Amino acid sequence: MKLDALLSKARATGALAAATTLAVGAALLGPACGGTPDGSFQRRTVSNGGEEVDPTEAFTAEDLRAYMRQLAPYLVSRELEPEELAAIDEKKFDAIAPMLEAWTKEAAFPRAARRLISQKLSVSGSRDGIDFDLPGNLAEHVAREDLPLSTILTADYCVDANGAKRECDTGAPFTAGVLGTRAFMVSRASRFNLTRASTMLRAFACQKYPMSEDVEPRIERSRLIPMFQVDRQADESGAPPDEFGNGTACYACHSQFGWHTQLFVRFDASGLYREDATGLQDPNGELGRSVDGLFASHLQDPAEAKTDKSQMLGRAVRDLGEAAKVLAESPMFVPCQVGNLLEYALRLPPTVEVAKEVVEEIASSAKKGDPPKVTFGSLTVATFSHPRVVAAVVSATNVAEASSAADQSQSEGEP
Ligand code: HEC
Repeated sequence: MKLDALLSKARATGALAAATTLAVGAALLGPACGGTPDGSFQRRTVSNGGEEVDPTEAFTAEDLRAYMRQLAPYLVSRELEPEELAAIDEKKFDAIAPMLEAWTKEAAFPRAARRLISQKLSVSGSRDGIDFDLPGNLAEHVAREDLPLSTILTADYCVDANGAKRECDTGAPFTAGVLGTRAFMVSRASRFNLTRASTMLRAFACQKYPMSEDVEPRIERSRLIPMFQVDRQADESGAPPDEFGNGTACYACHSQFGWHTQLFVRFDASGLYREDATGLQDPNGELGRSVDGLFASHLQDPAEAKTDKSQMLGRAVRDLGEAAKVLAESPMFVPCQVGNLLEYALRLPPTVEVAKEVVEEIASSAKKGDPPKVTFGSLTVATFSHPRVVAAVVSATNVAEASSAADQSQSEGEP
């Protein structure tokens, strides 16, 4: 079966309908589920009225078959094999991790990394001579070669359709992994470079604006263009009306945005790096646009407005390449990729915040080798074999099935 057909079948058979997805989110949010009263889900026995019980023993073979059936199309582009079903029947929960591990060795697996990144950055295909597959090619390469997952941001090369290394295409004197591609720049081009900045922070740090000042200290007010200095209601301040932001405290968000958008000031709307960028508002153009297909900076001083220099997560950086490395090394990076994996394979909305201890347990058990590294493969195994992830999906699926069965018996009762 073609992958598209497989995926739509997986959706239609309601492996996870919208309601289920929300239930998964709820189950992962809550402090405890799946029979471990202390809220901790490392696999261990817990005391239950003096008796030692293993929470993973609650999963039935049927539950686990359904769980793995949901994942297979997304991770290895196929359905479950009869031997896999038999292994689940025999070993129950203990079959899960080794099976996932085996999946990461399959030829189709690296393509899951491609799809995840292409969806997250909304890039793919090809038009106007721009190769929109470059981010996906790199992600697939990183997964296939079992490189550290952070390589998607730190690679100093791009990868062609045949998997060979090639130069990236923006013409910039630096590289920034998947971010340093025309595909990313064009797909996320917008006034003031806001969409490039917000996509970068969402995809690789799971942050949105405003974020904690511990994460990103603000730009001093006086360094911003006047519009973003205001802290009052838009109508009182004379700043642009409500269609921009929420009408209050532009400074709260844009004082952090300003650092991240600055990294893109020299990339024009077609994704090319331009030494001649000024970052200055085009006096005759739409708000947020500079001249000649470039976008305006948040910064007031012309000398600052035109440079690549900025700040990422509190660290001074020379350009987007350094900023990408800071992001890749940040303690938010791996946990955020856990979220991206759950979103990709279970369609968990990115707005769902998975319980912190779950994400931390997954991130730490995904570290493999010496020196320890987290790869797309190790993170996939750690994420989808985590008892709490399994428990959340199983309980959500059961709830959805029960309610659809109830709906059916109700409608059968009607004339
Ligand atoms: C809660 C955070 C927040 C506040 C407060 C806020 N903004 Fe924004 N602003 C955003 C986000 C998020 C975007 C969209 C970024 C993207 O494209 O992904 C945005 C986009 C914009 C844009 C670009 C719109 C476009 O169509 O391209 C402008 C201009 C803007 N904001 C100005 C303002 C002004 C002026 C204020 C104060 C009146 C303000 N914002 C307050 C978060 C905020």
